[in-house]
Amino acid sequence: MAFALTEDRDKQLADILTRYPTKMGACIPLLHLCQEQQGWISEEVVLWVSNRLDLPPAHVQGVVTFYTLFNQKPVGKHQVWVCRTLPCALRGGVELLQYCEKKLGVHAGETTADGAITLRSAECLASCGTAPMMQVDKDYHENLTPETVDRLLEALRK
Ligand code: FES
Repeated sequence: MAFALTEDRDKQLADILTRYPTKMGACIPLLHLCQEQQGWISEEVVLWVSNRLDLPPAHVQGVVTFYTLFNQKPVGKHQVWVCRTLPCALRGGVELLQYCEKKLGVHAGETTADGAITLRSAECLASCGTAPMMQVDKDYHENLTPETVDRLLEALRK
């Protein structure tokens, strides 16, 4: 079936379009809506957004490839971003990422075999004062230890 926004998301798009002087301004919010619905931005979605906003497909593709928050391939049900920038690294962020890799049996950028979790490394997520930290879906988890990470990852698999 060809891609289309759900009725509810289509209404959200109509509201988004009123906030910008040109349709181009709605490109990022619309891509977020599409990703919320489908989980990732496929070539079909790029073309659909391009048509909907009267933009060249290359423009939309450029936005998708520039921002790491847009998934360019299918991802797991949950996404875990482990910060690896200096303040987190100084407080064990690198070891934390390695711990997650070992625990999940995947490298950063990969999805667990059961499709539950995609593990990612991230640059500073602006929570340096509570390092080491990770973002799980839309929530921050801070001052992490192996024990708290164990609990978080186990909860994601339930
Ligand atoms: S360095 Fe990790 S949140 Fe800023």
